[in-house]
Amino acid sequence: MISIFKNIFGKKDSINIDFSQIAVDMHSHLIPAIDDGSKSIKDSMAMLEGFEDLGYQKIITTPHIMSDYYQNTPETILPAAQEINKILSGRLQFSAAAEYYTDSEFLQKLENEKLLCISEHKLLFEFSFLEEPINVNDVIFQIQLKGYKPILAHPERYPYFTKNNKGIKRLKDISERGVDLQVNLLSLIGHYGPEIKKTAEQLIDANLVSWISSDCHHLGHMKLIKEKVSKSAYLQKLIDSGNLKNTSLL
Ligand SMILES: [Fe+2]
Repeated sequence: MISIFKNIFGKKDSINIDFSQIAVDMHSHLIPAIDDGSKSIKDSMAMLEGFEDLGYQKIITTPHIMSDYYQNTPETILPAAQEINKILSGRLQFSAAAEYYTDSEFLQKLENEKLLCISEHKLLFEFSFLEEPINVNDVIFQIQLKGYKPILAHPERYPYFTKNNKGIKRLKDISERGVDLQVNLLSLIGHYGPEIKKTAEQLIDANLVSWISSDCHHLGHMKLIKEKVSKSAYLQKLIDSGNLKNTSLL
């Protein structure tokens, strides 16, 4: 009898993710008007309300730091985060770090400045979406040499690592070099395309995903998380895997 019901209703339809189990989102773009994320404080607050509705306890937002487009610094990020905190008045824990794009200026910053971390020494970084940086392993090594623990943002979104049937071998290699991998919630519903969804699923199947986050840029993303990601069987699988480190940031 049970199997008949399973067939009628389908296991997929019955999933309703409890986001309070993730508890902490550590990659988003919620500081208004300093990168390609939130355009206004009103939007920022609406997105934060969305996280609160979903059951999150803590949001660490991560504006882009990218020398060609978003020349953010602790000065453009941290006071704005404080203002948001005042408005939130304790409803959600909220802080800011950054998502570092690994260009040549990043290497200079790494050498000369104290970088903004998710927590302790955890550093969120990203590569180009278009072409493989020639010095991937060296960048990773340089980050580690400075005492940071690197977290690679959305590894599933770099096509050059996986194209031509390479699968996830290169990403596994990066993980084995001591880099934590952070998958985007929206990759799991095919928001960035079917190949990216497939890579995200392969990473989950291989137990290579340590962090899951929204990379929320606007209210459209929040709507998709509420309506579609909340039904993702792969997200449930990832939560059940016990591999996620998000709650360690509470
Ligand atoms: Fe991002």
